[in-house]
Amino acid sequence: SQTPVITIDGPTASGKGTIAHRVAQVLGWSVLDSGALYRLSALACLDRGVDTADEAAVAAVARELDVQFKGEHVLLEGRDVAARIRDEEVGNLASAIAPQMPLRNALLARQRAFRCGPGLVADGRDMGTVVFPDAPLKIFLEADVAARAERRCKQLKEKGFSANLANLMKDMEARDHRDRTRSVAPLCPALDANTIDSSTLSIDETVSAVLDLWSRTP
Ligand code: C5P
Repeated sequence: SQTPVITIDGPTASGKGTIAHRVAQVLGWSVLDSGALYRLSALACLDRGVDTADEAAVAAVARELDVQFKGEHVLLEGRDVAARIRDEEVGNLASAIAPQMPLRNALLARQRAFRCGPGLVADGRDMGTVVFPDAPLKIFLEADVAARAERRCKQLKEKGFSANLANLMKDMEARDHRDRTRSVAPLCPALDANTIDSSTLSIDETVSAVLDLWSRTP
């Protein structure tokens, strides 16, 4: 496919989602929040009481996911679960099942199907390394764990969830460690990725950095 893709990979709460949406908005492109697919798979397993150690069963759930993305809304079998998939419990379960190869394979075609129209901004952990290895621009978005925990804390409180900074930081470090050290599609920059450290950058500055790189991409 000739549709251009900008991939944005990075650890949890590095701002990938926000940056991806802003960049897509400016360019008039669509977005893929690949983490949402892992979270939706985790949520569907929880709701159906699927044993998440049963890799074939988890993959079957992912393959059959009836999901629609409509702006801010994420519909799972017609019900809006946008808030529920942001729950830390769901995020942690998503990270726990994410190393399963049958699950990742089940989600691969689904993710690539988002590549249509004028362009796609895809955020996740392995967008540049596995899902869109031919992307013309790959970003690896970092931020130190304290900055990320503070952002997530603020985000959760804004959405009316209770949040504890110390606990968040601990969970975040554990999840990052798991994402970075797993043998299957670990979180790591693609060889041709541009790393941006957003610890001290505002959202606008980070968006500008990405757009600047895009304007210089042949
Ligand atoms: O990005 P987000 O926090 O929503 O992702 C939830 C979990 O899904 C991550 O911790 C990671 O384990 C997994 N994931 C993944 N590959 C992706 C996106 C997310 O393994 N491309």
